[in-house]
Formats: sequence, C-alpha cells, structure tokens
Amino acid sequence: MLIRRPPDLLPSEITPEPLARGRRALLKGLGAGAALAGLGLPQISQAGSLGTLRPSPLSSDEKLTPLKSVTGYNNFYEFGTDKEDPARHAPGRLKTQPWTVTVEGEIKRPRTFSIDDLLKLAPLEERIYRMRCVEGWSMVIPWVGFPLAELIRQVEPNGQARFVEFVTLADPQQMPGVRSPLLDWPYVEGLRLDEAQHPLTLLAVGLYGEVLPAQNGAPIRLVVPWKYGFKSAKSIVRIRFVREQPRSTWMKAGPSEYGFYSNVNPAVDHPRWSQATERRIGEFIKRKTLPFNGYADQVAGLYSGMDLRRFF
Ligand code: MTE
Repeated sequence: MLIRRPPDLLPSEITPEPLARGRRALLKGLGAGAALAGLGLPQISQAGSLGTLRPSPLSSDEKLTPLKSVTGYNNFYEFGTDKEDPARHAPGRLKTQPWTVTVEGEIKRPRTFSIDDLLKLAPLEERIYRMRCVEGWSMVIPWVGFPLAELIRQVEPNGQARFVEFVTLADPQQMPGVRSPLLDWPYVEGLRLDEAQHPLTLLAVGLYGEVLPAQNGAPIRLVVPWKYGFKSAKSIVRIRFVREQPRSTWMKAGPSEYGFYSNVNPAVDHPRWSQATERRIGEFIKRKTLPFNGYADQVAGLYSGMDLRRFF
C-alpha cells in the first residue's frame, strides 16, 4: 500500500461534537444533494436520505470524524492512489444503478440480489464505528447498513463453506485506476465464515444518514471495524462462499506486509512501520492503538488459541 502521512488538517476542518451531531440531524432532515451543496461539502453522487434508522447498542460514542474528511480522504485505488482522488474521480463516474450482487458457491440458495432485494433483508441501522487504516490514521464513522449475517442466513451456507470472498467492481470504463496494473484487479477480500457472521460485520449502504457516496464504496461495501481498513471492500458485485482461504488483493501485492486476518494489533508491527499508535483524523496528538481496534471484548474470542503474530 502506498504510504502517505495525512496532511495536517486546518482547525476550521474540525467539527466539534455538538456541531457534528447537529449536522447529522440536518442531513437526515434534508435531501443529501441540497444539504451537502449548502454546506460546501463534497457532493453525494446518488442523493437521498435513508429515512429513520435504528440506532445500535454496538455504536461507539466517540466524536465523529467530520463528513468532509470521511468523504474527502479515501482509499479507493480504482479511482487513483492519492487520498483526494476518489472524491475527485468517483462521483459522476461510478454508475451505481442498476447494481446487482451475485451470491454463490457453497450455499443452498445461490441468488443474484438487486440493491432493493438486499435492503429488504433487514432494517437499516446506524452503526458508529472506529475505523483504522493500516497506514496509521483512523476515523469514527456513522455507517448505515445491516449485518452481513442477515444475508448469510438467507443463502444458507452448506457444510463445506469455511470462508467468504468479496469481489468488487473492476470496470476500466468507469474506474481510471483499473487501467493500470497497480493491483491485481478486481479488488478481492476475504473473511472466515464466523468473522463474516459476527454481529459487528456490516454491509453498509450509507453514512451520515445518507446514501453511500461513490468514493466510500457505493452502492454497497463491507465494514469490519476490528480489522485494518483494507478488509472493508468497496462496491461489491460478488460474494462467494468457499472452502479454502481466499487470496486477497493486498496479500497478492505484499504477502509479508498484509496477512489474511489483518486484525488491528498494536503488538505486531508492519514490516516497515510501527502499528502501536495512530492519528485520529482531526487530532494532532497521536493516540495508542487498541487491540482489535477497541473491539476486543466482542471479537477476541474468534481467535482464541491462534498465534496472532503468525496469523497476522
Ligand atoms: N475497496 C476497493 N474496492 N478498493 C480499494 O482500493 N481500499 C481499502 C478499503 N476498501 C479499497 C477498498 C482501504 S486500503 C481502506 S483504508 C478503506 O477501503 C477505506 O475506506 P474509506 O475510504 O471509506 O475510509
């Protein structure tokens, strides 16, 4: 992964918590396009409020990262490698309607879902999650989505399914980055079946109460908050239930640097830098990185008995 230090943010870019919450309420009440244009924020490509959302007891109560950073400082290599490239190139280019997600492999009920089909699987919830990138920066993001477990229940994995592979869109017409051999396209990620079924694992269709902006992985992406950000695949088109551990894009790109599990572990350094601390976007002083990104109580049990230095 290319390494860049987050540029220092201006004080004016940091939204105090009460304001951030107020902005969320405002965004909920208005159409996203109008609200965002009025605030001078990046445009959401497919405007639309997601209506009343169920809050979740699994949400963090930490200060939200401003929308401007959540939608303006991204990794989405299909649209370029600079942090500003996805916001610059994805909106307007990424066509998110119609969109289907094909679910196949070791399951009893293979099926191709439209986004509307997926939205019928479960009520949407707001989940405020800490997210930490392997590059050493972090954010707190109010995602909107539903547990991946609901989809898994529908398709009924058979006894052979041990892993789930996520394949994302790779269309050179829409995605300028895919025209270069930087990564082995399409972008692929994988989880063990029990990780995929964990209640924290989300399929996100929105953030800040609105439809997911193109640069954040519209129209549907994975969100796995206890793992480094790259496990959270964007713009998913295919979900495969498989017997063998999938080879993910970053494992292919740098097997010694990006392991399959990729759990946030401050005790395991990346070969080229420490993972002990992180910089929360909008803050100046680095904070200590927590094991499993602070979700150890909920997820450490998934890895009991495993040597997490070997299975990094
Ligand atoms: N998904 C796809 N398809 N392409 C990508 O380049 N980047 C990953 C992940 N999912 C990526 C992807 C990385 S490295 C990170 S840190 C997160 O998306 C960033 O998500 P965000 O931009 O919404 O914060």
